[in-house]
Amino acid sequence: MKKKIALIFGVTGQDGAYLSKFLLKKKYKVYGVKRRSSIINTQRVDDIYKDINTKSDFVLCYGDLTDSSSILQLVKKTNPDEIYNLAAQSHVQVSFEVPEYSADVNGLGTLRILEAIKNLNLKKKIKFYQAGTSEMFGRTKEKFQNEKTSFYPASPYGVSKNFAHWITVNYREAYNIYACNGILFNHESPIRGETFVTKKIIQGLIKIKNGTQKKLFLGNLYSKRDWGHARDYVEAMWKMLQQKKPDDYVIATGKNMTIKEFVNKVLKKLNLKIRWIGRGINEKAINIENKNVIIECKKRYFRPVEVDYLRGNANKAKRKLKWFPKTSIDKMIEEMIDYELDNSL
Ligand code: NAP
Ligand code: GDD
Repeated sequence: MKKKIALIFGVTGQDGAYLSKFLLKKKYKVYGVKRRSSIINTQRVDDIYKDINTKSDFVLCYGDLTDSSSILQLVKKTNPDEIYNLAAQSHVQVSFEVPEYSADVNGLGTLRILEAIKNLNLKKKIKFYQAGTSEMFGRTKEKFQNEKTSFYPASPYGVSKNFAHWITVNYREAYNIYACNGILFNHESPIRGETFVTKKIIQGLIKIKNGTQKKLFLGNLYSKRDWGHARDYVEAMWKMLQQKKPDDYVIATGKNMTIKEFVNKVLKKLNLKIRWIGRGINEKAINIENKNVIIECKKRYFRPVEVDYLRGNANKAKRKLKWFPKTSIDKMIEEMIDYELDNSL
């Protein structure tokens, strides 16, 4: 039987790496798109990457979501059954610093892929997955957010992803393209980027425990997030593209907690005993054993506008895709800690 072909934009990211491994197990041929960088940025997929000249089911190609000509060529050359758009300037706080670039990559980049699918009009009906986000709900007041909850994005990142969401719906309706939006809540893993809060907390506290870092500086400790595991979430992406009809789905665990509660969980697992003192920007954690201040809040890590509360309702995905989150937050934290300990020598 002929192998299915997948084209992944954003293959060098957290989700790109998990999805590639998932699809290779399903016997796909995977083309991953990486962008040019001044140092090698393929660490997350090095274990599955073989030289382009050797016969392999995993092939890396250059491309960039800001460059429509590269997108067009890639779609033409690879002739995919499925395209996954995971590429993005994905950091919310950074999007306030580079708003125009974030809008270009996240918003127009999605449009560029959809235009390539439409204009190439290949014999195959290509299926398209768009990496949407709970950040689109932003400053919502709903206790649980599902596919029917109104969007109220609160950052250039959130707004750019809103454009990507609606342009995906629009091309589905206007041109009958099989296109799905996954509205994914936060998902983490041992290979999460170092500037996202879960990885930053785990890396920082391990270094403090080992004596190689003195303090961990954080921002808002009271926003709540619904955290799942990236490994579980990439399976949902694939399931969305295996249905009879394209649709949009929320993917979440349905549980949430504050950043401070997350910190407390990590501290407990590392057997670090602390006492919290102060309030707001002056809140700190003191190591009970040696009285050192090990966590402090810094203004630079607070955002101009915060998304205070996210908690997803994934009932539609559970019902229609038979998708369920498998990894508990405790198990995920343990996996992240173990990885860090193995790699911190
Ligand atoms: P990530 O680790 O930041 O990966 C983003 C990927 O996009 C990287 O491969 C990056 O390449 C690539 N990229 C950035 N700019 C690009 C450009 N101009 N052209 C081509 N590629 C570009 O993000 P992730 O956590 O895997 O998330 C995957 C997607 O899901 C993103 O779209 C994100 O916004 C969305 N999302 C993530 C979450 C989450 O909690 N993880 C939740 C909801 C939605 P480099 O490696 O070269 O930087
Ligand atoms: N990054 C970071 N660094 N966040 C901090 C810090 C800090 O030092 N201190 C507190 N926070 C708070 C942020 O203000 C935010 O409320 C929360 O921790 C989570 O921040 P991130 O881990 O950066 O994730 P995010 O929720 O902003 O965005 C992630 O999830 C989205 C889905 O909801 C990213 O992966 C997005 O790409 C994704 O769409």
